[in-house]
Amino acid sequence: MQIQILPSLLAADFGALRAEALRAENEGADSLHLDIMDAHFVPNLSMGPDVVTMCKEALQIPLSVHLMMTRPDQYFINFIEAGADSLLIHIEADCDVPKTLHRIHEHGAKAGITLNPDTPARMIFPVIDIVEEVLCMTVHPGYGGQSFIREVLPKIREIRDFANDNGAADLDIMVDGGINTETAAECARAGTNLFVAGTSLFGEADMKRAIDRMRVAACEAFVS
Ligand code: DX5
Ligand code: ZN
Repeated sequence: MQIQILPSLLAADFGALRAEALRAENEGADSLHLDIMDAHFVPNLSMGPDVVTMCKEALQIPLSVHLMMTRPDQYFINFIEAGADSLLIHIEADCDVPKTLHRIHEHGAKAGITLNPDTPARMIFPVIDIVEEVLCMTVHPGYGGQSFIREVLPKIREIRDFANDNGAADLDIMVDGGINTETAAECARAGTNLFVAGTSLFGEADMKRAIDRMRVAACEAFVS
């Protein structure tokens, strides 16, 4: 299973977003993660499609766009047009989630389903055969810099086991929130192979070293 590290641009210096996105790519990021918040699904506003366009123009690596929105069905096309390679929507969104996932595919992007820390694994099982990625939030979404919620770990294992037992052994499982070298290893042991990290990567002067350490720790700990 391929282990990937995705720096989250939310933790970058917003006074130098393009340089920060390029820094992540040059320091070894597999993909860049962009957090889109609508001040309704979560109590915060972050960035819109223009930031995705800027990153698409500046970078070669894929863009992973996380829609923390009540109505992702009304906006996902704008983000695909802006250059999103994969779109993550929430199972808690107020829309027809399976239909929206299919529409994301029809528009040429990868589709992922996200679940909040308190949402049970079984809520996403009906759509697991539609998606390429499952994102398990390891904080309550809305802000960077929060502490990792360890109680999510058994749920990650439950999802990995369900995928293995249901012909989806190649499913990518991603975590997001409070991820550093130590928590990445715990998540890898539970079956996670994609790691989103904001503060612990953009906050490091030597991001390459931080990415390399996280990658090695996750590779060593990963259990399929
Ligand atoms: C939280 C976002 C995360 C956030 C993670 O709502 O979805 O992507 O940037 O930030 P850290 O790694 O600082 O917890
Ligand atoms: Zn995110």
